[in-house]
Amino acid sequence: MMTWQDIERELEQRKLPGLLTLADGRRVEDREDMLRRRQEIKEILCREFAGYSPAFPVTTEGTVCNRDENAYGGKAVREKIILSFRTPFNGFSFAFELFVPRAGTAQSGKVPVFVYLGFTQTPADGPGEEIIDNGFALAHISYQEVAPDKNDGFANGLGTFCSRNPYDSWGKLGMWAYGAGRVADYLCTRPDVDSGRMAVMGHSRLGKAALWCGALDERFSLTVSNNSGGGGAALFRGKTGERVANLAKEGSAHWFCGNFVNYANREEELPFDQHFLLALTAPRHLYVASASLDEWADPRSEFLACAAASGAFELWGVPGLILEEQAGTTMPEHPLHQGHIGYHMRQGTHHLGREDWKHIFEYRRLHGV
Ligand code: GCU
Repeated sequence: MMTWQDIERELEQRKLPGLLTLADGRRVEDREDMLRRRQEIKEILCREFAGYSPAFPVTTEGTVCNRDENAYGGKAVREKIILSFRTPFNGFSFAFELFVPRAGTAQSGKVPVFVYLGFTQTPADGPGEEIIDNGFALAHISYQEVAPDKNDGFANGLGTFCSRNPYDSWGKLGMWAYGAGRVADYLCTRPDVDSGRMAVMGHSRLGKAALWCGALDERFSLTVSNNSGGGGAALFRGKTGERVANLAKEGSAHWFCGNFVNYANREEELPFDQHFLLALTAPRHLYVASASLDEWADPRSEFLACAAASGAFELWGVPGLILEEQAGTTMPEHPLHQGHIGYHMRQGTHHLGREDWKHIFEYRRLHGV
């Protein structure tokens, strides 16, 4: 049987850095300490993992450049929106697509939304329509519109937005996350979108970016990562499959800040592990989805990170992961949906499928997030 005792024993063997120990060595005891710890964790992850994103204020504006009243056979309104944001010195713009269910707008006025970082230009028909059928709006960001996914010396897309250093300036995960945050700026101005129920979501490398976005931007009521693995929801210590050394290679090193790649083959020296990242979404809601045969991502390490992050949620006064008795299992056979951390493991390989979406819809409905 899977019990907290077994899980804690296994976590001890991973020798994780203390999530709930302040830099001065004291244990976090209350919300005030937790606020301080949150700031410390953020600093560590900015410096050593994803890099600092620009903190200066921007003015965001969205312009609808194309509108289809009859998307998905008349069930949704689709708008192509040019999003621009600027400071007195610089600016940037990219396009994204917004789908709002017509039924939802007529009945309730405001609908909850998925801010989805996607690999494709436009959402695939199947999931797009199901999102609408389930009463959600969808803001689909084609991630390379924000910054191309290649080692281009940060010379394109958001890479040109501010000056950078090779140590702790943002990498591409930070840029994609920042793009999702600017879409959220715009959605907050829409009368048909519920800005209190915005989820940020992504699959695989974009699951990593979604976690970073939800960690930093507290307007998102829910953060969802699907099969995000190394640099996402999976603990690095004790991880199988992809390791820091793999991520540090050409092809993915540009996702992170420069300092991160120095931890290749030195995972035990990382001043954090991924439960730090997950804990930043507390006390809001977090959903982590794994796949049983996704060995590169390592579902066990994703699940354990959720368990390891739970303590932070509890210190905020909300439950993290709630285990249900699942006799004879070492991994949950049924989705764990009761706590502020939701988790499921689908049978199968690396993929974002109908079953994943179904569980995520259920979780959002159950918690009203
Ligand atoms: C590679 C990479 C992973 C990443 C995945 C993806 O497999 O090693 O870290 O999650 O690509 O984004 O598809």
